[in-house]
Amino acid sequence: MTTGAQFEFIHRFEPPKPGGPKVTLLLLHGTGGDEEDLIPLGEQLLPGAALLSPRGRVLEHGMPRFFRRLAEGVFDVADLKLQTDALAQFVSSASREYGLEDNQIIAIGYSNGANIAASLLLMHPTLLSGAILFRPMVPFRPQVPPDLRDVPVLLAAARRDQIVSPELTSELSAILTAAGARVTTHWHPGGHELGSDDVAAAKDWLAK
Ligand code: MLT
Repeated sequence: MTTGAQFEFIHRFEPPKPGGPKVTLLLLHGTGGDEEDLIPLGEQLLPGAALLSPRGRVLEHGMPRFFRRLAEGVFDVADLKLQTDALAQFVSSASREYGLEDNQIIAIGYSNGANIAASLLLMHPTLLSGAILFRPMVPFRPQVPPDLRDVPVLLAAARRDQIVSPELTSELSAILTAAGARVTTHWHPGGHELGSDDVAAAKDWLAK
């Protein structure tokens, strides 16, 4: 089912299948993607779960993103924070509207989508029950660590990522760990694109 702009984000929603897990996967695409991109990944990672997949509201040369950037890897933090709040509001109201308030919400973000998912963890620490971040950077450096006690987070980084350095992955891991999150890191041997090992690691992590 595709619905319109009533929640201020164009999005795709797939209802849970009967007997499926009480989990909503929040799917957050990369730069230039849209709400359709991660649906097959969500279906593969947790069959039967509800899928909520918004489209980023910012356009960069026509390419949807979840927040503005000033250059590659240099974020417009004011816009990031504004868009993070809007996304949190959307997720809460969509969960109510679709009757899924009791579901755990797990974010699955790739690249730009992983960065706003990390920002959601830092700014709205009670919204998500967990997150899988494929190729994230550090969205911003919080002054005071949020309380993410026991929130599980999978960082799926890549050894030869042209965009994200291993130092950024370590820094994000340290920020989340300092906030109490249970961080696991998976290292893909290749670059920024996802590999089948990333999907397998995410499936294993979700199964636990
Ligand atoms: C970003 O948020 O800008 C990314 O991590 C890199 C990208 O989307 O290309």
